[in-house]
Amino acid sequence: MTSPTAVPEELFEPGADRATYVRDMFEGIAGRYDLMNTLMTGGRHHAWRRAAAIELVRPGDRVVDVGCGTGDLTFACLEVGARAVLGVDFAQPMLARARAKAAARGTQRAAFALGDGTRLPLADQSVDGWCAAFVVRNIPDLDRAFAEAHRVLRPGGRLAILEIPKLGPHPLRPAIRLHFARVVPLLGRVVSGHASAYRYLPVSVDHFLEPHEGTARLRATGFEMRRVERFMLGTVALHVAERPLE
Ligand SMILES: C[S@@+](CC[C@H](N)C(=O)[O-])C[C@H]1O[C@@H](n2cnc3c(N)ncnc32)[C@H](O)[C@@H]1O
Repeated sequence: MTSPTAVPEELFEPGADRATYVRDMFEGIAGRYDLMNTLMTGGRHHAWRRAAAIELVRPGDRVVDVGCGTGDLTFACLEVGARAVLGVDFAQPMLARARAKAAARGTQRAAFALGDGTRLPLADQSVDGWCAAFVVRNIPDLDRAFAEAHRVLRPGGRLAILEIPKLGPHPLRPAIRLHFARVVPLLGRVVSGHASAYRYLPVSVDHFLEPHEGTARLRATGFEMRRVERFMLGTVALHVAERPLE
């Protein structure tokens, strides 16, 4: 097990096992994850997932939600008309919360499976939609995750990614950096009790891609871009793309 006090910067050095750190970390914070989202975003996070779901889902679609965590994007996809959504995550305690929410909602259309976004337990061209919210920044082999998305989507199927992009030039840069580098880690330590999880978050954002770089990586994997939208002063980005018809 990776130490919960790991220095986040070291996780981006060559040879570091960031995936194991990420899995252990989400196993550790699962109980406080939803509350932290609400506190960090002032409750806006549900609206972003809904916006992603509206862009992604057509009535009757079968969707896979990669890194589904506690299931909120899965449920947003069902609410806008998906026939069935499979949530996949490699942190069992996050899945346990997603399953409890599904039971409380009485829905049979959500299923949750332990798995890795870079090795999905799905056949080629078996889904209409692939989505991930606040996940891909945490996947060291991003190109492999995008290639998996392309593999499991049918031609004409869509992809939607919500993520916190690397901050480019921005008039409110000092205030935004203060929020991510000071407020979020302090809040995270107090609320989640995890020493490094919310110190890792701003470091992972600094090591991630700006929205135009995300677009380039998706195109390089074979996707056609449909739209890029930004929320909360540009600190959250939604990429929507399509696997082209053959
Ligand atoms: C920040 S949470 C997001 C959860 C959920 N998508 C949401 O919108 O709240 C990131 C989730 O991605 C999962 N995750 C990260 N890398 C993964 C991978 N390679 N395969 C499967 N799950 C992964 C973590 O376990 C965690 O539950």
